Amino acid sequence: MVQWKRTHSCGQVDRSLVDQEITLNGWVNRRRDHGGVIFVDLRDRDGLVQIVFNPDLLAQELFALAERLRSEFVLSVTGKVVMRPEGQENKAMKTGEVEVLITDFKVLSEAKTPPFPIDRDVDVDENIRLKYRYLDLRRNDLQECIKLRHKAVSIIRDFLNENGFYEIETPMLTKSTPEGARDYIVPSRVHPGNFYALPQSPQMFKQLLMLAGFERYYQIARCFRDEDLRADRQPEFTQVDIEMSFVDREDIIEIMEKMIIEVFEQCRGVKIPTPIPRMSYQEAMDRFGSDRPDTRFEMELKDVGENLKDSGFKVFSETIKNGGVVRGINAKGCGATFARREIDQLVEMASSWGAKGLIWMVIGETVKSPVAKFLTENEISSIVEALGGEEGDLLLLVADSFEVTSVVLGRLRLFLGNKLGLIDENKLNFLWVVDWPLLEYDEEEKRYVAVHHPFTAPLDSDVDILETEPGKVRAKAYDLVLNGTELGGGSVRISHSELQERMFKVLGFSSEQIQEQFGFLIEAYRYGAPPHAGIAFGLDRIIMLLAGRSTIRDVIAFPKTASATDLMVEAPGNVSPRQLQELNLIIKS
Ligand code: AMO
Ligand code: AMP
Repeated sequence: MVQWKRTHSCGQVDRSLVDQEITLNGWVNRRRDHGGVIFVDLRDRDGLVQIVFNPDLLAQELFALAERLRSEFVLSVTGKVVMRPEGQENKAMKTGEVEVLITDFKVLSEAKTPPFPIDRDVDVDENIRLKYRYLDLRRNDLQECIKLRHKAVSIIRDFLNENGFYEIETPMLTKSTPEGARDYIVPSRVHPGNFYALPQSPQMFKQLLMLAGFERYYQIARCFRDEDLRADRQPEFTQVDIEMSFVDREDIIEIMEKMIIEVFEQCRGVKIPTPIPRMSYQEAMDRFGSDRPDTRFEMELKDVGENLKDSGFKVFSETIKNGGVVRGINAKGCGATFARREIDQLVEMASSWGAKGLIWMVIGETVKSPVAKFLTENEISSIVEALGGEEGDLLLLVADSFEVTSVVLGRLRLFLGNKLGLIDENKLNFLWVVDWPLLEYDEEEKRYVAVHHPFTAPLDSDVDILETEPGKVRAKAYDLVLNGTELGGGSVRISHSELQERMFKVLGFSSEQIQEQFGFLIEAYRYGAPPHAGIAFGLDRIIMLLAGRSTIRDVIAFPKTASATDLMVEAPGNVSPRQLQELNLIIKS
């Protein structure tokens, strides 16, 4: 009888076990037939080990069974560990010095031929991988991502537990939590016509936990946002959600910096210099055209408009007269190396991002540019000087509002940084972005909206202009950025109901709307609220960057596609007429 229970895991087998009889459980990763002897790489979650089926050591019917083994069969095998014959070691394999001579085994489960190979990484359509996610997850690199996620979460939990945080769960079936995205809503059966919203974040609940006196809270919280998906956005994702009482911005930054650094140091084995640098939102926009700047390379944005307001070239002078700016970047050396077609591609990209045009200047013996003839020599040299232009450089300019020039040049900068190989992939450039604007004007909605969320406190010095100059008010908000990705964000909260009501009013809520949507919260703040502040990190993004992946799908066990579907379970799907009836819903077709 085969002992079904394993004594060791595949990845553990090494020379210290030589001559011992062991039992392993696992999947056939690969099978090779070498003239009568069958070699199988057996795989479990810890790794691979070579096992050998030799007809001299096995009963005839067992060897016949070994000949029928195929990829992904599940086995329990018993055998003796031996050193591999000289010259047959496999240095690429952790267990490559040894092999296991099988004396007995059992097929626990047979397997159909998988739709794509598991034992090596081949180019397969991602939709097929997602349909068979449980098979894709068997592949080594995804196994490593998921294990890394477990490790990082354990480090985070340990850190927070040791620092006096309570882990507390908050509801999934709840009311809308404003974080700027659309809600996923769930119809109520017992209250026809009424709906729950799935939380965009636990924001209101964690604040109420502070009012309830818990002082330090965390949750590894699932959040739901119905928004356009990207490589670093999923409709449901996980936050490391934190809130603390009797603290200010400095306390949060200090403790969270420690936590994040601990995670990266333990998981990546690197030393991260502290303190993490800080930059104001304004400086980030000025220098990098982005509120989450990738500071691993330079190519900073410069305002070149100083001597252009009276230019005969209307694109410049009119823009500046209308309150806009002329800004640019210097793609060092690209004037000498870029073909015209590559420059045209930059122009096309710029207009697809909303620029009215992109002016380029190639510095050679003279300055070559489609607009050179409209500019005086002085104007050209002041542009070249502002951008530190030298022979061989390519200067790229946009004239528009500060926002448009930021978006366009910020993206061009990233594109060029990648294209020119200026980004050192080994660098971990953390950055706190601080002093955010509290509000921004939304042209579509024709009102101010919160840059973070409506519970963020304004700087004390700016409270007085909340109603008169809302666009100028700065917030006690902070974001943590790593290599151009926003890892997390938070703020000091408004802890007085009067200020909270003023904030809602500035956001365009009527008194009735405030009462209906947030009445419970305003009321709660009347019963003794401690000053409090918090932050939430995108766990998926942290793991993505830890693992060096380019999409968060790789670090989520069961992710959704870019169109928010789960191809494996086929969600979203239809519901039965009876369910619709119970919910009092009619589908308009
Ligand atoms: P915020 O909306 O900035 O703040 O979210 C915090 C962090 O969550 C991550 N994140 C996402 N990750 C994957 N997919 C998404 N769709 C997605 N959306 C956000 C980001 C982001 O930095 N309640 C506040 C936090 C607070 O003030 O304490 C909040 O949710 O990494
Ligand atoms: P026009 O005078 O519109 O023909 O534009 C002359 C050049 O300036 C063209 O190369 C346009 O692409 C470019 N251009 C026009 N508007 C802008 C702008 N706002 N910013 C940068 N370049 C522009």
